[in-house]
Amino acid sequence: MPLPKAELHLHIEGTLEPELAFALAARGGVTLPYADTGALREAYRFEDLQSFLDLYYELMAVLRTERDFADLADAYLTRAAAQGVRHAEIFFDPQAHLARGVAMETVVEGLWRVLGDSERTHGVSTRLIMCFLRDESAESALRTLDAAKPFLDRITGVGLDSAEVGHPPVKFREVYEAAAALGLRRVAHAGEEGPPEYITEALDVLGVERVDHGLRCLEDPALVARLVRERVPLTLCPLSNVRLRAVDTIERHPLRTMLEAGLLCTVNSDDPAYFGGYAGDNFDAVRSALGLGEERLRELARNSFLAAFLDDDEALRERYLAEVAAYSFG
Ligand code: ADE
Ligand code: ZN
Repeated sequence: MPLPKAELHLHIEGTLEPELAFALAARGGVTLPYADTGALREAYRFEDLQSFLDLYYELMAVLRTERDFADLADAYLTRAAAQGVRHAEIFFDPQAHLARGVAMETVVEGLWRVLGDSERTHGVSTRLIMCFLRDESAESALRTLDAAKPFLDRITGVGLDSAEVGHPPVKFREVYEAAAALGLRRVAHAGEEGPPEYITEALDVLGVERVDHGLRCLEDPALVARLVRERVPLTLCPLSNVRLRAVDTIERHPLRTMLEAGLLCTVNSDDPAYFGGYAGDNFDAVRSALGLGEERLRELARNSFLAAFLDDDEALRERYLAEVAAYSFG
């Protein structure tokens, strides 16, 4: 039995495996510019975040109907559950779909067909987090929040993703204020490729409760001290960092250093179909590459439930934490 864990940094569009992409393309009459799944996998050699995003957005063309989004969510939850994920907070990128003529309702209702019943069907509790694309305008983000208003009973929070450098958090001050006023939780990608100042800005200007990635905090000791003091969770994604060349190799990933510094780190998969593994694969990778012992792995699992947006169901959080405490490593 795998270690129970929560996944807090997962883009549902990044779970689109090549096989499913081709199946959805055939069903929807969409032509992909790749001969087959092998040719598509050949394209999974990324230089940086942008080179990945180009392919990530291109493949979204196959996601057109509620059924497509439901199939995507179902495939993810099946894989995640097999790797010990008990709770998943799932990002989606509505602007990328709205721009292709796919309605907010299609995306949210399609995902919800599966997420709405995921505890019973997959043994995984779920939350939805709507991300704004930071390389789009602040006005577009505000329009997107407006379009989401009929669906806020299904959306727990907002996030900020896509190309980071040159798009500082402050650009989205107004939309985060509006999201907070609607009672939405707030997270943002910061310090993946962008500088440590973006992490500080996400905390101070956007009021985020967790930082997605946050890797580059290590360049600023005062920021590290603050993140430790304020117990701000970081949702790290080790295999993603290697594939997008934020770190050279998994052996050089700073996760161990970050844990030793007292940071509240979690381990997540980001875009598992593209980066070589799901949540459990990320745990396995850091376990062997960094020589993490059982208590560090248990700490990571515990952190994931402590950082989860489970405030509306503390009994469930306690149940998950008890599962982690009782877990026996084989
Ligand atoms: N969208 C999907 N994956 C992302 C990542 N790792 N960083 C920023 N935006 C993303
Ligand atoms: Zn991400």
